[in-house]
Amino acid sequence: MSRTQPVIVIVDFGSQYTQLIARRVRECGVYSEIHPYGEWRSALDRPGVAGVILSGGPASIYEPDAPRVERDLLDIDVPILGICYGLQVLTSLMGGRIDPAPRREFGRAALEIRDAADLFYGLVPESGSNASIDVWMSHGDRVTALPEGASVLACSANAPIAAWRDRSGRRFGIQFHPEVAHTPRGRALIENFLFRICRASASWTMQAFIEDKVREIREVVGDDEVIMALSGGVDSSVVAALLSRAIGPRVHPIFVDNGLLRRNEAATVRRMMHDIGLEIDVVDAAPRFLEALRGVEDPETKRKIIGHAFIAVFEEEAARHPRASFLAQGTLYPDVIESVSVRGPSATIKSHHNVGGLPSSMRLRLLEPLRELFKDEVRRVGLELGLPRTVVFRHPFPGPGLAVRMSGAVTPERIEILRSADEIVIEELDKSGHYDRVWQAFAVLLPVRSVGVMGDLRTFEYAIALRAVTGVDGMTADWARLPYTLLDRISRRIINEVTGVNRVVYDISSKPPSTIEWE
Ligand code: XMP
Repeated sequence: MSRTQPVIVIVDFGSQYTQLIARRVRECGVYSEIHPYGEWRSALDRPGVAGVILSGGPASIYEPDAPRVERDLLDIDVPILGICYGLQVLTSLMGGRIDPAPRREFGRAALEIRDAADLFYGLVPESGSNASIDVWMSHGDRVTALPEGASVLACSANAPIAAWRDRSGRRFGIQFHPEVAHTPRGRALIENFLFRICRASASWTMQAFIEDKVREIREVVGDDEVIMALSGGVDSSVVAALLSRAIGPRVHPIFVDNGLLRRNEAATVRRMMHDIGLEIDVVDAAPRFLEALRGVEDPETKRKIIGHAFIAVFEEEAARHPRASFLAQGTLYPDVIESVSVRGPSATIKSHHNVGGLPSSMRLRLLEPLRELFKDEVRRVGLELGLPRTVVFRHPFPGPGLAVRMSGAVTPERIEILRSADEIVIEELDKSGHYDRVWQAFAVLLPVRSVGVMGDLRTFEYAIALRAVTGVDGMTADWARLPYTLLDRISRRIINEVTGVNRVVYDISSKPPSTIEWE
């Protein structure tokens, strides 16, 4: 990002762990960026490159179509570390040899360290023939001949050359994955690479990010104005707070109340933004959305209708700010990586409604101040900017809101039932301390009615499904093992307090094959 910031460039060969490498490097305080292997040249053509990491990947270097980089990568004057497939790339580029291993090695392995001078410095109490650490291996190939002049640093049972260093002391290859949690000393190895070998400084902090970004936003925006859609989620709230810090009242966050939000959402978001000195425009568009959704039951149709209505409302509101020439969005680094991924964009399972369609029709320039950040970094920025923890650690909430949490038609009566149940779920999770232990939790209104008995009366009412999942990124998730006592309390409260519900069930499906939201 800033011109002076040292950066570690990660050349991606398609490993599922590439993002983890980037995150580990940043956790050590050094900024890192991921670039597809085909673009390594342009990625390195910038000031501040302190080192290069070649990621793992699913290929084998001896296959005809294996991803490769050109020899002149070796001409660059900064240290290079090849991890797993990256080791294969570097080994063969430097004249060494890779062959299929007689036995594949997946999972935990003991790594015997032979040379703890630099990359493995301090990883074992004292280097010697018995000095070994646990590492995570995932390979079917191995180094069978070193590049000329290189020396072995470590070996494992199935990889006699599990790590090497070249003659210059600036090129390293390792067979295992230091970025995963199963390599307990992995962080120390990455620190050695960053600080001993690349001599990078640990200058990547969220305060530095905020200062740099504020300066950059002021330069780019000049005297113009910025509009943005504020959802109340962490990403758009942090964008609003950052812009407010940079250009004060010249940012106009527009909050569209589509009538499908949680209880008191608009008022809560307005107050929270007011507390950090920002006034927002709240647009009450509930009648318009409900009208457009009348009689619609198909999930994808609901999503499309809500997406279109949102854009229409937002465009009308934006027209009230004719001086605005920028549209700010909360795009994060994983979205950026995904769009240029060597593995290709992932398949669309549900049409996620984001504001992505707006700029071309509105002729606004796009401002994406968080596009270099991972989610945990966004949260830290939010806290630095004074946003409350309740916002910063809020569960995700889908753009189409409660509409995709009720199977069947979206009516005011059904929205009210679901909103009341949702409020109870969140309250009880909060009270019991479980809110922060799950990725997301909510109620779903099912289209079935079932028989019950309340007092002496027979009832025939709706069922609510509870959904609570654990996970780290929403890509995969498991159902949360909430205590029975908590489930019991939530169920009792919903059935007693929410008119129209006489049954509560718990969703015990994981993602995949289920998704988190029901529609
Ligand atoms: P699924 O249901 O696909 O959800 O497993 C994964 C995560 O994405 C959230 N989600 C959305 N977020 N707009 C959003 O901004 C949407 O349309 C949307 N749909 C689902 C969901 O809540 C979960 O965290």
